[in-house]
Amino acid sequence: MKKVTVVGAGNVGATVANVLAHKDIVKEIVLLDIMGDFAKGKALDTWEQAPIGYFSTKTTGTDDYKDTANSDVVVITAGIPRKPGMSRDDLITTNAKIVKSVTESILKYSKDPIIIIVSNPLDVMTYAAHTASGMDRFKVMGMAGVLDTARFRAFIAEELDVSPKDIQSLLMGGHGDTMVPLPRYTTIAGIPLRDLMDDETIDRLVKRTQKGGGELVKLMGTSAWYAPGAAAAQMVESIVKDDGRIFPCCVKLDGEFDEKDVYLGVPVQLGKDGVRRILDINLNEEEKQLLKTSSQHVKDVMKTYDDLNK
Ligand code: NAI
Ligand code: 2OP
Repeated sequence: MKKVTVVGAGNVGATVANVLAHKDIVKEIVLLDIMGDFAKGKALDTWEQAPIGYFSTKTTGTDDYKDTANSDVVVITAGIPRKPGMSRDDLITTNAKIVKSVTESILKYSKDPIIIIVSNPLDVMTYAAHTASGMDRFKVMGMAGVLDTARFRAFIAEELDVSPKDIQSLLMGGHGDTMVPLPRYTTIAGIPLRDLMDDETIDRLVKRTQKGGGELVKLMGTSAWYAPGAAAAQMVESIVKDDGRIFPCCVKLDGEFDEKDVYLGVPVQLGKDGVRRILDINLNEEEKQLLKTSSQHVKDVMKTYDDLNK
């Protein structure tokens, strides 16, 4: 794998490029934005860190899709972020058009790349990109679960005064208030979360995670970028290294978890061809119910997208 394109050179896109460049695992990163020379500036600023950050990955910026030719992986962050008081779903009218046209433009110059969507509303933008691409469902995925589990893990680390490095967790469902953090699949250095934390505290941290994006929007007036950018870069790394790591990613379901034709966050194994496989684990009745509620929410927003396209 040699070339990664990041579309949208704003807060999240520039961070994806910057974090990925520091990993020094690809030959080239192209940052594309419609705002004139903006992407060129961001890419140049990243490239000028190379001697300090000690990487060789060449980063360039452009507003011309020709420069994205033959990309192996494409990360789409183009679109508007939310402002205080807005939900992710409020972005659909603007971002649906952007994500669809970006996907089509990318595919004019790159054959069959792996596409990672970041733009919101995440699950439905993954639907928009996947349908526009006509590609295999395992080649188009959305980034949300890596971020949302990172938030849950960070909150647990803070509460227990332990290192975030020791916390493993799983979270499923849509990237919204109905997301499903899974305490039963959360451990601290192998110790089940429930052995170290009471139910009331777990419930508080689950709720904080579900509203984690909104917490940052309130603090900053726009949405987050450091953790989202690092999360998308971690997915790219796993694909580039073909290491088979497991992350919660948004993908089209075709019978897994008794769900069909819906784009939802589920545990997947990543590799050079995108999603290697979905891990269709056995949820208990309560978890199944929560996933169903989340799935119904995503389906409702998918219908809004379908209606926009009528
Ligand atoms: P931003 O406003 O800083 O950057 C967006 C960039 O997209 C701008 O530079 C803009 O010029 C560019 N853009 C707009 N239309 C374009 C087009 N047609 N082609 C190419 N570039 C285009 O926004 P930010 O903070 O980077 O957020 C980007 C998106 O990512 C938002 O939709 C936000 O909600 C979403 N997001 C998703 C997360 C997730 O977990 N999935 C986490 C954080 C943000
Ligand atoms: C977040 O969760 C807004 O989706 C973005 O930070």
